[in-house]
Amino acid sequence: MPAGVVVAALALASVFFAPRRAPSAAAAPLPSTVLTAATAPSRTAQLALGRTLFDENCSSCHGAKAQGSALAPNLRGLGAGTVDLWVSSGWMPLANPTSQPIRKPSMFDRTQTEAIAGYVASLAPGGLPIPTVDVAGANAAQGFSVFALNCAPCHTITGAGDALADGLSAPSLHGVTAIQVAEAVRSGPGNMPRFGTFTISKQQLADVVAYVTRHIEQPSNPGGLALGGVGPVAEGFVGLFVGVGLCVLIALWIGDRNEREDTGEHGGEHAPPGAAAPPGNDPEVAHV
Ligand code: HEC
Ligand code: HEC
Repeated sequence: MPAGVVVAALALASVFFAPRRAPSAAAAPLPSTVLTAATAPSRTAQLALGRTLFDENCSSCHGAKAQGSALAPNLRGLGAGTVDLWVSSGWMPLANPTSQPIRKPSMFDRTQTEAIAGYVASLAPGGLPIPTVDVAGANAAQGFSVFALNCAPCHTITGAGDALADGLSAPSLHGVTAIQVAEAVRSGPGNMPRFGTFTISKQQLADVVAYVTRHIEQPSNPGGLALGGVGPVAEGFVGLFVGVGLCVLIALWIGDRNEREDTGEHGGEHAPPGAAAPPGNDPEVAHV
């Protein structure tokens, strides 16, 4: 019987914990999100716009030359990619220096954001350029593996995000753009580690971008049971309760059936207490 319970529990577990069907790479070709410099305004005009926007919205905390202040860190040498991530995700500008950066609609359109990022990058060399992500040849199924291994521990396998230690949390990845994913992976914002090309190659980055933007973005559930994407621990408990409940019901049903078969065999009633048990197989009498 314990073996039966284990088998039944394993069978149920495989239903509840089945990995979300890894998306097929054969799905419709992904739109390429390669950034082209052709659409950008002329370089001097872009720098002038970036400078104006930086002076008005950022310099009060980060300093006139982005050198940092008592209120906010130095931005020199971070590169356009990091600045683009922080501005496009709405984390910056902060309303006040002590508030937590949270995702909100960006204050700036794409041209303005690139102008700010380009201006900050022009102040000092180095850092991460705004990455180009070509997901046309990406394999989202491979991306799922990369995600499960490197990202799910913090962002959860559903991408819903989760609380981390010390009151920190990894945000939900619903609705992030391809460029934001690449920028986050390569720059490691806040408490997220930075992944270099040694850990996540260029191809793997394209794969994980394809996976996140195509399969996490959709709030519809890609597999298993929709439990609100509450995370593996809570889902595990639900699975456990339902699974154990079913096992108990099955055990009761089997027990009930055995009893009826037994009574049928012995012509109806059980032997009265104290009487010698017939040499049958009444399970309630121990034959020693
Ligand atoms: C009210 C003050 C304030 C304003 C205004 C502000 N920032 Fe920030 N910024 C901060 C603080 C504080 C941090 C550090 C936040 C953290 O790490 O949690 C920060 C962090 C950043 C970072 C990440 C730095 C790093 O080392 O990773 C970038 C990039 C950034 N800000 C860019 C900008 C840009 C661009 C603007 C203008 C559009 C801006 N900020 C406006 C206060 C401000
Ligand atoms: C150690 C935990 C951790 C791991 C591992 C991790 N992240 Fe993050 N991630 C974070 C945290 C924390 C933030 C928020 C940073 C902030 O607010 O400053 C974040 C932010 C992001 C963002 C930006 C979200 C937004 O709202 O714009 C993206 C995209 C992202 N992560 C993708 C990934 C991907 C893809 C991986 C795997 C390659 C990954 N992360 C691995 C903790 C993690």
